[in-house]
Amino acid sequence: MDVEIINVSRRFQLKNMGVIALRDISVLFPSGKVSVVYGPSGSGKSVLLNLIAGFDRPDNGSILIGGVDITSLSWGEMNDFRRRFISYCMQRNVLIPRFKVGLNIALPLIIRGVSYDEALERAHDIAKELDIEYTFDRPAYTLSGGEQRRVVLARTLIMDLDIVLLDEPTSNLDEETAEMVREIILKHYRERRRTMIISTHDPGFKDVGHVRLRLKQGRISKLEMD
Ligand SMILES: Nc1ncnc2c1ncn2[C@@H]1O[C@H](COP(=O)(O)OP(=O)(O)OP(=O)(O)O)[C@@H](O)[C@H]1O
Ligand SMILES: [Mg+2]
Repeated sequence: MDVEIINVSRRFQLKNMGVIALRDISVLFPSGKVSVVYGPSGSGKSVLLNLIAGFDRPDNGSILIGGVDITSLSWGEMNDFRRRFISYCMQRNVLIPRFKVGLNIALPLIIRGVSYDEALERAHDIAKELDIEYTFDRPAYTLSGGEQRRVVLARTLIMDLDIVLLDEPTSNLDEETAEMVREIILKHYRERRRTMIISTHDPGFKDVGHVRLRLKQGRISKLEMD
């Protein structure tokens, strides 16, 4: 599914101080391709991904996913839409702290009706790929930041949805682990050809995107397409 951003602006009002996070952004992230969004801290990358995931709404403009204008959906419709089509690895590691790692990873499958045993088996396979198998039976809160990062990524990749949003998937990782994680993300892409949008500071992703978008202070400062 294409992801089309059309004249999108987002401004936050904090008491009497306004922050303009995105200023009139238009860009097409093509269906079945990898797009990379980069740019300095505070340039609007996460705000953009949150809008695409429908966790937030633009002040102006529209966002079309597979031709559906998600900005016109109700919150309930957006939740259904997201559940069907979008997997999102957020920048912050959101896990259920007291649940075991395995269950944290398997949860999206269980919610969608996959049997508990099968979901855990698939969670185990992906945990092994990401080299966090040894944490599988531990409560999530006992993991290091980099280990938790990979649990969140595993939980995102375990589903096979049309849109995959990854917000700094290799943050908090040493270079060797980051390289392994990049490889797994790209393998996932090659096998499934979903629409993938990666926000990142990691120079290792520099050459992989079909679309490379650079944001600066909420504006597009560079847009390259293959
Ligand atoms: N809920 C909010 N309320 C107020 N300002 C916000 C809010 N969310 C984001 N911002 C502001 O919008 C701007 C863009 O933030 P964003 O999180 O998208 O940056 P980013 O490019 O993802 O940075 P980083 O690389 O550090 O993750 C920042 O100036 C930030 O302070
Ligand atoms: Mg961010």
